[in-house]
Amino acid sequence: MSNMDQQNILQQLEQIQQEASAALASASTTEETRAWHSEYLGSKGRLTGILRSLGSLSPQERPLVGKRANEIKLALESALESRQATLELTELETARSKERVDVTLPGRPQTVGKIHPTTRVLREIYAIFGSMGFQIYDSPEVETDEYNFQFLNMPPGHPARDMWDTFYTTDPELLLRTHTSPGQVHAMRQYAPETIRVILPGKCFRYEPVSARSESMFYQVEGLAVGKNITFSDLKGVMTSFAEQLYGPGHAMRFRKSYFPFTEPSVEVDIACVLCNGKGCPICKYTGWLEILGAGMVHPHVLQAGGYDPAEYSGFAFGMGPERIAMLKYGIDDIRYFFSNDVRFLERIG
Ligand code: DAH
Repeated sequence: MSNMDQQNILQQLEQIQQEASAALASASTTEETRAWHSEYLGSKGRLTGILRSLGSLSPQERPLVGKRANEIKLALESALESRQATLELTELETARSKERVDVTLPGRPQTVGKIHPTTRVLREIYAIFGSMGFQIYDSPEVETDEYNFQFLNMPPGHPARDMWDTFYTTDPELLLRTHTSPGQVHAMRQYAPETIRVILPGKCFRYEPVSARSESMFYQVEGLAVGKNITFSDLKGVMTSFAEQLYGPGHAMRFRKSYFPFTEPSVEVDIACVLCNGKGCPICKYTGWLEILGAGMVHPHVLQAGGYDPAEYSGFAFGMGPERIAMLKYGIDDIRYFFSNDVRFLERIG
């Protein structure tokens, strides 16, 4: 190869450097610098092409051209680096200023969750009975016929079973409990012969037409106290204190005789209508009273089923529906709202 070739290549190198430097200076984005890199320094780039062709030079010519080519390569690489750094910084700045928070814009409303009214009432009930020394006792939702009926003084064929129509399973022995009362027997069997003061909250199920007043699933809170010398006055005292804590001191209440197979005597507890305060309105059906719970002295057969000798022990029990209490408290006119899972219901309760 002649001297001419060497001169020629050196010239080309200078030209590439000039062009490349100018092109780099005018690159205005990091993306453009990447295109620039592949045009000059990439594997198919112009400078790389020259470096590859060095092999065709004679051994005497090669060092000079090779040295220059490498110098240019290094110079271009470092120019690229600094240009990219500058552009990256500007791009970051632009992105930042675009994303800057405009504090004058109105805020986005946050949707805050709410406690379900059943849960709210349950918590109030727990607090009230907790203050009177009642503990919470968990009992199963799936029950046997024995627990749901027989231990509660309703042998097979007992007419009172009609008051609690349930969902049966394919196993004839197993059913969904219709009330929390079977939990009384579980608690008694666990603690006998100790004294007991428990409440038993939980879900119940009834095979009944669903309407504004009755759902196929709902909650109940059962209460049970067993010991020696427990009398009807104790029941009355506890119920009065409960109603006063829930509805305010002096809120009128009354006990009405009633019937439940598992209590004797049995009562229903009414409070003065929360809406009209006893004057009479559509909510209380113009009676002035609202029924809030059933109660009574635990029937001797039930005490026996629980492992207590009725000659020595006595007890009282009660059962209430927190949804009913919530309906009266928050003016909810349809029980179906509770479990239809529409958040607007919770929003409305406030
Ligand atoms: N289990 C009854 C029901 O579901 C409610 C009830 C009434 C529970 C009287 C009791 C009670 O413990 O003494 O209708």
